[in-house]
Amino acid sequence: MSFYGRSFLSTQNLSLEKINKLFSLSKRIKEEYKEEHSYFLPEWHEQLRNKVVILAFFEPSTRTLLSFQMASQRLQLRTVTFPSISESSLIKGETLVDTIMNLEAMEPNLFIFRTGDSQDLLDCIKSVKVPVLNAGSGSEGHPTQALLDAFTIQERLGSVAGQKILFVGDVIHSRVASSNLELFKLMGAEMAICGPNEMLPKENKWQGIPTFKDLEKGLEWANVCMGLRVQLERHEDKNALSKEEYSKNYCINLQKLKKFTPIGLIMHPGPFIRGLDFDPEVLSDKRCVVHEQVTHGVYIRAALIAKMLVKGVN
Ligand code: CP
Repeated sequence: MSFYGRSFLSTQNLSLEKINKLFSLSKRIKEEYKEEHSYFLPEWHEQLRNKVVILAFFEPSTRTLLSFQMASQRLQLRTVTFPSISESSLIKGETLVDTIMNLEAMEPNLFIFRTGDSQDLLDCIKSVKVPVLNAGSGSEGHPTQALLDAFTIQERLGSVAGQKILFVGDVIHSRVASSNLELFKLMGAEMAICGPNEMLPKENKWQGIPTFKDLEKGLEWANVCMGLRVQLERHEDKNALSKEEYSKNYCINLQKLKKFTPIGLIMHPGPFIRGLDFDPEVLSDKRCVVHEQVTHGVYIRAALIAKMLVKGVN
């Protein structure tokens, strides 16, 4: 089944064929942009120009919001961005569910939502008639981040299949790790997790995934290292974590990376917390692709939007 006219809410309904086609289009966009430094997919602009997308982010974002906006602008699409919570009628007591019902009544062609964990809200989003793109939902999933991460691995290493990918840090709260697990498994990668006990997930979907307590041992095992932000805002007790202890054991830095293969990839979906989960010195390591992930996010999101909005985009 194609992406056209449908919501894209999770990595669960993807097939290898669909992923390969999406990655081919993203690669074409990347190469044409490198050549022309111009708009993406001009042959579809006639169909895209008269469509309007509503971007509504009910949790903060830099990369995802701006890369969806960049992708839309380069496709010649029109976008309307929901204001911040304090500038909308949410501040007057209107609920998120009522807000979404009102946005739907404005008849956009596509919604791009970032939401928290509220089940009412997730149910409401699933029932809207307009196609919806999930730009991150609570701790549950971040499917476009998973796609851009997989695309980055494929671009750099040739394929996702056969790679040994280590997630480091606050895995239990990470929607990125959750979607990456589903996607990387489908694409044939091996995975492991590393972090303190309280940050390691216990859900069924993680059963059987090897665990490392010692980051250097994990780095010896892996050839792709995916750092994750410590999500203090989702911790029940925000003061329970010793930041010094965490940083000593799990901050990805050049010292610990001495154990990591010279032909590996160092990734992080961002944002990272300097000195707590990621040392900025790592950005200049030739194995680090953190900013390349962001660049690829624009291509992947443009390809996905074009496929969802225009029939026949291959
Ligand atoms: N990776 C990511 O989702 O970053 P933002 O929260 O800044 O969008």
